[in-house]
Amino acid sequence: MSDPLSQHTDYGQLPLGDSDVLDDPIAQFRLWLANASDASVYEPNAMVLSTVDVDGSPSSRTVLLRAIDETGFEFFTNYSSIKGRALIANPAAALVFPWYSIHRQVLVRGSAQPVAAALSDQYFATRPRGSQIAAHASEQSQPIASRALLEQRVTELEHEFDGRDVPRPDDWGGFVVEPHTIEFWQGRSSRLHDRVRFMRAASGEWERMRLQP
Ligand SMILES: Cc1cc2nc3c(=O)[nH]c(=O)nc-3n(C[C@H](O)[C@H](O)[C@H](O)COP(=O)(O)O)c2cc1C
Repeated sequence: MSDPLSQHTDYGQLPLGDSDVLDDPIAQFRLWLANASDASVYEPNAMVLSTVDVDGSPSSRTVLLRAIDETGFEFFTNYSSIKGRALIANPAAALVFPWYSIHRQVLVRGSAQPVAAALSDQYFATRPRGSQIAAHASEQSQPIASRALLEQRVTELEHEFDGRDVPRPDDWGGFVVEPHTIEFWQGRSSRLHDRVRFMRAASGEWERMRLQP
């Protein structure tokens, strides 16, 4: 059996030359997301979100990107969860899109804001009914005595909402991470990777630079 700790892949099919990167990092991100999807990357919209708790300690977890536009990167969650409480107290956020199979990653840093309630309502309404009920049943990130208790809550809620639409829970909704930094990383041979970083200047313009690998 191969040792997973000593595997060593030499990346490098694709260069990321200066002319390969669009001037608008959001357009560049969309392009890479489409490439990841075309290359059958599993859940290409999965991103690792890092937050900072009130005591200054970081935590990370995966969430799914649900929209991307000039404002930023949008995802949905429970506002009372560990990440929700952290972001409401301290909006600093970092994202990693880990597209290992195509030797790419995108790193985003920025500030997360709750989205308008109407937008969360709109998205919640598109979710499968089971997920809507689960959003009511789960006090995300809180301890629970057993799985059975959670499933019992789901059964009770199915009866409660029988025959009517499931409303969005008050503490469930979206955040948008408004980026100030976006880095495109392309794995290259002999660890001489390409890194192109965009930083938003005070004027709002994006400035780009190449970073050493
Ligand atoms: C592939 C994947 C996608 C996920 N997507 C979401 C999501 O969009 N929103 C969410 O709240 N949790 C999502 N989760 C669960 C989170 O990783 C996490 O367990 C949960 O949100 C609680 O995080 P917290 O306790 O740090 O707040 C996802 C997990 C995985 C593995």
